Amino acid sequence: MSHVIAVDPAQPDDATIRRAAELIRAGQLVAFPTETVYGLGANALDARAVASIFAAKGRPAKNPLIVHVADAAGARSLVRAWPPAAARLAERFWPGPLTLVLPKRSVVPDIVTAGRGTVALRVPASNIALALLRAANCPIAAPSANPSGRLSPTRAEHVRAALAGRVALILDGGPTRAGIESTVVDLSHSPPQILRPGPIPPSDIAALAGPLVDQPIAGAPFGDASAGLPAPGMLDRHYAPRAALYCCDRDLERRAAAALAAGNRVGVLVITPRDLSPSPGLIIEAMPREPAEYARLLYDTLHRLDAAGVDVVLVESPPTGDAWWAIRDRLQRAAHDEERD
Ligand code: TXA
Ligand code: MG
Repeated sequence: MSHVIAVDPAQPDDATIRRAAELIRAGQLVAFPTETVYGLGANALDARAVASIFAAKGRPAKNPLIVHVADAAGARSLVRAWPPAAARLAERFWPGPLTLVLPKRSVVPDIVTAGRGTVALRVPASNIALALLRAANCPIAAPSANPSGRLSPTRAEHVRAALAGRVALILDGGPTRAGIESTVVDLSHSPPQILRPGPIPPSDIAALAGPLVDQPIAGAPFGDASAGLPAPGMLDRHYAPRAALYCCDRDLERRAAAALAAGNRVGVLVITPRDLSPSPGLIIEAMPREPAEYARLLYDTLHRLDAAGVDVVLVESPPTGDAWWAIRDRLQRAAHDEERD
């Protein structure tokens, strides 16, 4: 069994942090909260420890990990170049939900970066994560603490349910604030490119880093192949619940009725009120109209529907545009591929 210890995110208990740091130094895995999602951490400079992250998650070896550091100086010690755009973005957004991809130094083991010449770095905005990084006094490689391909965890309970026994210690700092994974920006070539949309919108990145690689921002409707072109580095294709998830627009009521009639338990995520008749097999989740609030609740809601044994999740397509890009990206990756049915 994995040990779970509650930690006050406002004032992390020293003894608990010391214990977690000792485990990291000893090559063990520790799950901890960040402001985005929970991470599954190991000493980033210890190739054996990092290998156990891949094993615990069942993560393909070709998918590189994000390395967490306590501050920008920690990041600079791991990279060969620190361009002005990196300095400006780090100054403005760290600690925070921004990951920068830069040319790596050889001290970063190849297993961390899946053999790439670049490393992804971020300073998390969580007192628990920062206290752990300082106490361990080493960079911590940490992907989201979920089995590969599944939903990222926004609560310690999600980690325990999915990875119990595979992690030495879980630090429980309560639900995470941002609710979806960090924005990943590749600064290793010019112009910079967003590899994964996240809480920090592209306009904020471009304001400090200059024009970005032109990308299909979430303007196209779901089902339009051009909307989902995978960027390099976007190997995490799905962040999927157990239930089959579909995004729909006008036909949501009809599809809910059909799924219920076929004997399914159905969950729906709606932003606008709908005319859905109550049914014992139907769970209606009213989602916030504000994108940051929606993001904070998205995985949590999907985890809850999974736990309730829902077979089908129908999601009202969120609005298009910059502010909803990250949410539409996650929904698209979570969506059931109807072609494969
Ligand atoms: O918010 C987050 O970023 C969370 C918390 C725990 O920090 N972490 C997270 O890690 O989402 P993970 O491993 O689930 O996602 C890492 C993403 C993947 O899409 C991976 O392909 C990309 O970052 N990535 C990592 N290193 C890269 C590199 N050198 N070049 C390009 N993409 C990279
Ligand atoms: Mg992940």
